[in-house]
Amino acid sequence: MRDDFEASFSDQLAAIEAEAAPVAPTAVSARLLETPDFAPFCFAYPAPDSASQAQHPAALLADLTWNAGSHARATSMLSAYADDVATRDSLLLGVDDESQLAVARILAILVCAEESAVNVFHHECHRIPAEQVVADHQALREIEAEERVHAWLIHAARSHLPVPDDIDAIRRRTRRLFMRVASREVATHFARLTGLDSGVCISLSALLGSSRVNKIDGFARLIKHIRRDEATHVKKSRDHAVNLGFNPDQFHECYDLTRSGMVGMLEPIAGSFETLGVDPDRLFKRLMRFQESRLAGEAALAD
Ligand SMILES: [Fe+2]
Ligand SMILES: [Fe+2]
Repeated sequence: MRDDFEASFSDQLAAIEAEAAPVAPTAVSARLLETPDFAPFCFAYPAPDSASQAQHPAALLADLTWNAGSHARATSMLSAYADDVATRDSLLLGVDDESQLAVARILAILVCAEESAVNVFHHECHRIPAEQVVADHQALREIEAEERVHAWLIHAARSHLPVPDDIDAIRRRTRRLFMRVASREVATHFARLTGLDSGVCISLSALLGSSRVNKIDGFARLIKHIRRDEATHVKKSRDHAVNLGFNPDQFHECYDLTRSGMVGMLEPIAGSFETLGVDPDRLFKRLMRFQESRLAGEAALAD
């Protein structure tokens, strides 16, 4: 696909879905049966509800909530990342120190988002009675499983990368944003999440549009995988918010909070985007572009 982050979000979603060829199921590697030893970076989260309650990725893959395509893609990605040496090489080999640090900063932010998302979807699955909204519940369980896989993959990647000096400030800022976005109103909370998830997709598309990023194969493959899932999360969270009674005309108001918060959180690491060949100003403008469509009086959400 053209990794054009100027395209509207619905164009991007269509392109992202069209691009992903079906992945043949692969065997589960032994590494995936190990309980992860990663300490949470921003937010601890509970064990999954699978029969074994095991935390290792193989238990997630055994969970019956997956749709087949998503399951095959997750299996293939987890199996590739289970090879420690190959993963380390794919993240570090031929990559200069500054770029390694830039990748480490971006993944630190991303893992906060994943840990937060595991919590949100896990608790929501417990909150709503399964029989009340069966289709919705299934969508939420799938998201929870996908977020757990994302978190595992990013923790695995981070274990190979250097730790930037400003890591504590990054963690503080990111945590603060997620706390601010939280709402006691569940429908509002999910509406806000769509602003964050679509913002993540836009940012990952900007990164994937850079040749420098594509040379860091392990990173490019990881964020492509995450972007594919997040694009579907936007739609599912949006539907869930509306099912809970959120007024679709008010998504823009949520975007004010989430996208400006996101830009504020990313500004201090603008230099890392530059290092990776992404123009941060262009990206930040793109993240705020929903405001233009509102000013133009468009009722529909443009991105
Ligand atoms: Fe995610
Ligand atoms: Fe997500």
